[in-house]
Parts: sequence; C-alpha cells; structure tokens
Amino acid sequence: MEDLNNDFKVKDISLHEWGRKEIELAEVEMPGCMATREKYKEQQPFAGKKISGSLHMTIQTAVLIESLNSLGAEVRWCSCNIYSTQDQAAAAIAKADTGKVFAWKGLTLNEYWWCTLKALTFPDGSGPDSIVDDGGDMTIMLIEGMKWEKKYKEKQELPDPESVTGDDEKALYQFYREVIPQDPERFHRLSKNVKGISEETTTGVHRLYQLSKKKLLPFVAINVNDSVTKSKFDNLYGCRQSVIDGVIRATDVMLAGKKVLVCGYGDVGKGCAQAFKDNHAVVYVAEVDPICALQACMEGFQVKRIETVVQDIDIFITATGNKGIISVAHMEKMKNNAIVGNIGHFDNELDMAGLKAYPGIKRIEIKPQTDRWVFPDGHGIIILADGRLLNLGCSTGHPSFVMSNSFTNQILAQISIHDPNSTYQNG
Ligand code: NAD
Ligand code: ADE
Repeated sequence: MEDLNNDFKVKDISLHEWGRKEIELAEVEMPGCMATREKYKEQQPFAGKKISGSLHMTIQTAVLIESLNSLGAEVRWCSCNIYSTQDQAAAAIAKADTGKVFAWKGLTLNEYWWCTLKALTFPDGSGPDSIVDDGGDMTIMLIEGMKWEKKYKEKQELPDPESVTGDDEKALYQFYREVIPQDPERFHRLSKNVKGISEETTTGVHRLYQLSKKKLLPFVAINVNDSVTKSKFDNLYGCRQSVIDGVIRATDVMLAGKKVLVCGYGDVGKGCAQAFKDNHAVVYVAEVDPICALQACMEGFQVKRIETVVQDIDIFITATGNKGIISVAHMEKMKNNAIVGNIGHFDNELDMAGLKAYPGIKRIEIKPQTDRWVFPDGHGIIILADGRLLNLGCSTGHPSFVMSNSFTNQILAQISIHDPNSTYQNG
C-alpha cells in the first residue's frame, strides 16, 4: 500500500504505466468526455473549484477525473464500492496527480469510510465546492455527520451501530464514533461550501428524494441518472454487456441452455435479461410492477414469482434496487452450485447477513469475489462479489463507450452547478 505525502492511497503505484495505457485507449472510446474537454477548455468552468467524487475508481472514471481536472478542478476521489476499484486506474491518477485518490480493490468497510472522508477533506481542512456521487454515500456521510455532530454537542450523544441493520451503515456509525469526538465541527466545515451534487445512479436518486421530502437535503442536487443518455444507455446497454462479463470472469460457466431468473425488469433488468437471452439461456423474470412485467412478457420472457421456480434456476440475478429480494429460505432451496449475483447498487438485495448467520454454513473462497457457500447437507451455492454489484466486483464494469455518455452528463451537471447564472434551489 502506498501512502506518499499522506495525500493519496492506492494499492500499488507501480501499476501506473499499465493504467495510463488503458486510460489512453479509453479516451478514444469516450468521445463525449473528450469533446466536452475541448469545448470548455478556454472557459475553464471549474477554475478554483474543489470537486470530491465517490464513484467506482475504474479506467472510465479516470477519464472523468482528468476531464474535471483539465477544466480547472482540484479533484479528490474515492470509490463508492469496496470491490470496484481497478488498482491500475487509481495508480495512474495518483502518479499523474490529476486527482488525489483514496481507493483500492478489497477495502474493509472501515477503510471505505476512511477513504470517503479523505476524498472530502482538502489540504487546508475545507470541504469541496461540489460532489460527484454514485449511490449517495458521500452526500449522506456529510448530512448524517452534521446531524450527529449536533447531537454530540448538545448531549454528548454518539451513534449506536447496533441501532441500524446494514453492515455499511453499522461501519459508518462506528466510524463516526471515532471521528466526531476528535473534531466535532468537521462535517459542518466540510459541508459549508458545497454548492451542489450530481448523482449517478437510480438508488442514489431515490435516497436524495427521501432526504428532500423530509427537508433534509441542504444542497442543490442534479439527477444525472434520469438523463436519457444515462439510464437508457448505461443501465440498459452497459449492464447488458457487463453482467455477462462478471458472471463469466467469476465462474466460466456455460450460459447456453441454463435457466436464468432476472429479478427486476427496469432499465438494468431489461439489459440483463436480453444479455442472457442472446447467450441462449432460458430467461425468466420476476417483477412487481405490472407494466414492466407486461414488457417482459412482450419480449418473450416468462414472468414468474421466485418461489415457483427457485429449485430449477441455475443463475439468479437481482436488479431491483430494492432489498430482501432473495432470502435465505430461497437460497437453501436452490440447486447445487446455483450462481447468485446482484447487479443493483447495494448488497441487501440478497440476504447476505442471513446467509452468514445460517447454522452450520461454510464459506469456501474459490477466488476473490467468488465464494461457494456450503449448507450442512453438503449442497452449495456460488455467491458473486459477496452480494455487491457483480459487474464491478467480478469484472471491470461497463465499457468505455457507454460510460462516456454517463460521464459527459456528469461533467455538464457539474458545469451547471458552478455556472454563476444558475438559479437552482437547495433541496
Ligand atoms: P429501475 O427502477 O428502472 O428498475 C428496478 C425494477 O425493479 C422496477 O421495475 C421495479 O418494479 C422492480 N422491483 C422493485 N422491487 C421488486 C421486487 N421486490 N421484486 C421484483 N421486482 C422489483 O432501476 P434501474 O435503473 O434498473 O436500477 C436498478 C438497480 O441497479 C439500482 O440499484 C441502480 O442504482 C443499479 N444500477 C447498477 C448499475 C451497475 O453497473 N451495476 C448500473 C446502473 C444502475
Ligand atoms: N458503473 C458501471 N460501470 C462503470 C465503470 N466502468 N466505471 C464507473 N462506473 C461504472
């Protein structure tokens, strides 16, 4: 682990040449980002601005970081998932010093929140002028942090990790317990100059709407996900390619003839279902929304409740953005070596906590991010990326061309946040 000047932290800086060569290939495949660099290069819309990002630290994200930097921004970055960093991409950015990166593949949850805080904290102790977020964790770290600082000041109260359910949230609460007493003004200070955030994904947008409804969103927020050139391309065509890439890199399984259940037939689910169909698998869809269910029928997929097919399915993919989609009761009924993966943003679509707590269960690591979980009766199931998004955990996410669309939207959103003529309202 490199920790030079304490102002970046990557797995192995010597990977930078490899990362740079891949970034150069990606630039050719990311014409939107490169054209945006060219168009605004004289104007330098981010001159003097500090931007923090929490978004999978891949080769494509390196092109985004260098686009923001080339338009004047001082950039600090972390990944929004513990398994999604491409270490060569992080090394190339750290080496070129086009952004300060705090990311490596295989973070612990404590390291994850540490990296997020480092990406938010500029050398003079101030926070960013704007945030690029993917899933909302960076935004929520600030908002919840301010809430707990207030409680700490008023009543010396600190968050209790046992009061929340998910591992990520428990780790965040534990992290606050360490850092708030050290500096009870920190999250207020880091939030002070934030003019706006641009949010990348469906789940992050849902979280922002929830905050906004409760009047707890103190920033301007731009919904990048719902741009047609994001959700109707990245979520659909990106997942159509990267879901297969993830399953194959993890398991090398033959897809033709296999029975696949895709849970959720929104943009991501549509891409996944089509991908397995194109690979000659027999595809079933589970969907709660009647219109999406009908769309699945119209594409020739059989719409089924998971309970009615669980024993026959070879590959399960969750793509709902909702929680509790595959329970342990489902898992114990699955075939030997059924493959179970999630491509939604968070890890709670599969009940991983329940699986880990199953009496007598054994976890056998086949390789990083591919585990066989063996039940006491001897049959096992293969879980991808510990239930976290499999296309970034087991593979390298979407290809550059589709990410160019998403990230051009991100750059334009950031330009509009910093446009002095913008009249956006907070929240
Ligand atoms: P979406 O809202 O378009 O689709 C989700 C679908 O799931 C909806 O049709 C909904 O009715 C259905 N659904 C919800 N609860 C369900 C349940 N209990 N059973 C069956 N179906 C259910 O969302 P999307 O844009 O497709 O995104 C899905 C998830 O994928 C989100 O978490 C998003 O953030 C994430 N995402 C991941 C990637 C990636 O690269 N891994 C890319 C884009 C989005
Ligand atoms: N989301 C899906 N694929 C991605 C990629 N390659 N880089 C960043 N975010 C992503």
